[in-house]
Amino acid sequence: MKDFGGKWTTQKIEIFVKYAKAYLQIMKNHPYWKIMYFDGFAGSGEIEKSGNSYNTLIEGVAQRMLSIEHPRSFDMLYFVEKDTDKAKRLKHLIEEQFPDKLNITHIVTEDFNKKLHDLANFLQHPNNKKYKVLAFIDPYGMQVKWDSLLALKNLSIDMWILVPTGIGVNRLLKRNGKISKAFLDKLKIFLGLDEHEINDCFYKTETVNTLFGKETITKKEENAISKAAELYKSRLNEIFKYVSEPFIMKNTKGSTMFHFYMASNNSTAQKIANDIVKPQLKH
Ligand SMILES: C[S@@+](CC[C@H](N)C(=O)[O-])C[C@H]1O[C@@H](n2cnc3c(N)ncnc32)[C@H](O)[C@@H]1O
Repeated sequence: MKDFGGKWTTQKIEIFVKYAKAYLQIMKNHPYWKIMYFDGFAGSGEIEKSGNSYNTLIEGVAQRMLSIEHPRSFDMLYFVEKDTDKAKRLKHLIEEQFPDKLNITHIVTEDFNKKLHDLANFLQHPNNKKYKVLAFIDPYGMQVKWDSLLALKNLSIDMWILVPTGIGVNRLLKRNGKISKAFLDKLKIFLGLDEHEINDCFYKTETVNTLFGKETITKKEENAISKAAELYKSRLNEIFKYVSEPFIMKNTKGSTMFHFYMASNNSTAQKIANDIVKPQLKH
C-alpha cells in the first residue's frame, strides 16, 4: 500500500497503538469481557512508505494489533478489506507470522458499511453480550456512510475514526455553492445531512451592490475544514456520549487532510484518548 502522507501516518499508528495498549491494560483486570478488534479498512498489514531515494515497508495497524500479547491479547480480530489482493496478502502475513492466531482471526473482502451493520447485529445478540470492541476505521476517503455509524448507538465500542475533512468534504464544497449532484449526494451520504443543512453549515449569502442593482451571492465559509471537523464531532456525539479532541493530520505543505477522533460511551476512554492526542498536537 502506497503511503501518500508522511510522518502523520506513523503518528496516527502510534496514537492508536498507544490507546490499544491502555485499553487492553484496563481489560486485563476484566477477564470476563471478550475483546474484539474490528478493523474496517485493514489493508494488507504492511504500508509502503516512500523516502527520498528508496521505499520502505512499515507495519500497518493490523500487524501491530496481531502482535500485542501484553497486557493481554485480543480474543478475536476481525479484518474488513474490500480489495481481494490486499486481503490475500494480509491472510498470508497472518499464516506466516501469527499462525497461532489463525483460529481467532477473520478476514472478509466486503464493504465496510455492510460489515459495520453485521457487527452491530452481532453485538446486540443476547449470546454476545460479553463482547467489547476496539474499532479502527481508517479509510482513504469518504467511504464511511453516516447511516452505517448510526447502527453503533449504545454499543460497547471504542472507535477511532479518520475523517477526511480536508481531502474529502472541503474539496467537494465548491466556492460558489454550485455543487454537482454527484458531489452533493456524496456529502449527504457521508454527513447524513440534507442539502439545506449542508448549505446552512458551509455557505452564507451576501447582498452586494452592483452596477445593475442589488445582487445576492453565495460564499463558502473561509474555515470550511474546521467547520467540517466540528460538525462531524457533534454528529459523533449524537451516537457516542464522548468524543476525543482530534489529532489533525496535515500534508507537507501544511494543509489539513484528516481529523482523527476517538468516540466511546465511556468517559475514561475519552480521557485516555485526549491524553494521548494532546502531546502530539504540539509537534
Ligand atoms: C488507508 S488504507 C488502510 C491502512 C491500514 N489501516 C494500515 O494501517 O495498514 C484503506 C484501505 O481500505 C480499503 N477499502 C477501500 N474502500 C473500502 C470499503 N468500502 N470497505 C472496506 N475496505 C475498503 C482499501 O483497499 C485500503 O486497503
